[in-house]
Amino acid sequence: MRVGVLVSGNGTNLQALLDAAARNELGVAQIAVVISNIPNVPALARAQRAQVPHAVVAHRDFASREAFDRAMAAELDAHQVEAVVLAGFMRILSPWFVARYPARIINTHPSLLPAFPGKDAPAQALAYGAKLSGVSVHFVDASLDGGPLIAQRAVPVRADDTAHSLHLRIQQQEHALLPSVVKALASGALTVSGRHVLGHDSDGHA
Ligand code: GAR
Repeated sequence: MRVGVLVSGNGTNLQALLDAAARNELGVAQIAVVISNIPNVPALARAQRAQVPHAVVAHRDFASREAFDRAMAAELDAHQVEAVVLAGFMRILSPWFVARYPARIINTHPSLLPAFPGKDAPAQALAYGAKLSGVSVHFVDASLDGGPLIAQRAVPVRADDTAHSLHLRIQQQEHALLPSVVKALASGALTVSGRHVLGHDSDGHA
């Protein structure tokens, strides 16, 4: 299955996917294109180094969210993409885009959803005094970080954590979890019934 990866920044999750692909650990998933909404981010250099096609579709160039999403979809179509992975992609997708890929868009988020959706989730967890946070990989719907959960892993919050140190430990978990979910998605192992997703366990086995 040809997968498009949407990014906005550093791209460590993209790197985890590229590394997994190089080790033949993504099963039938193939990273067909990487698209960033921001120019010159490290994620684009990671795609370049891995010799994966990459493009910038800058949201600032478009008058509306849907116009931006249509431009991204055109780029995804040019690479025959069937499924979309949000790997640190910091834009909300329009209902039009979400409807175009039913149960074919996944996102990784650095908290145990439904706690702490949106931006700066590790900082939100610290400010709240949470003792446990983690990572959630979920299907994307038109809500903010609210689609059906596919897999989660918990990460304890330490007394001396900063948002950065907590985020780094969460990312270690998401770098392991995201590729295994992409593999499961591409193999057709995931089934969705309402909010319930079967076909992946959070230990990483598809
Ligand atoms: C990741 O930790 C991801 O979970 C988070 O941004 C980071 C991007 O890191 N995403 C969100 O907060 C989405 N709401 P990366 O660019 O190094 O993969």
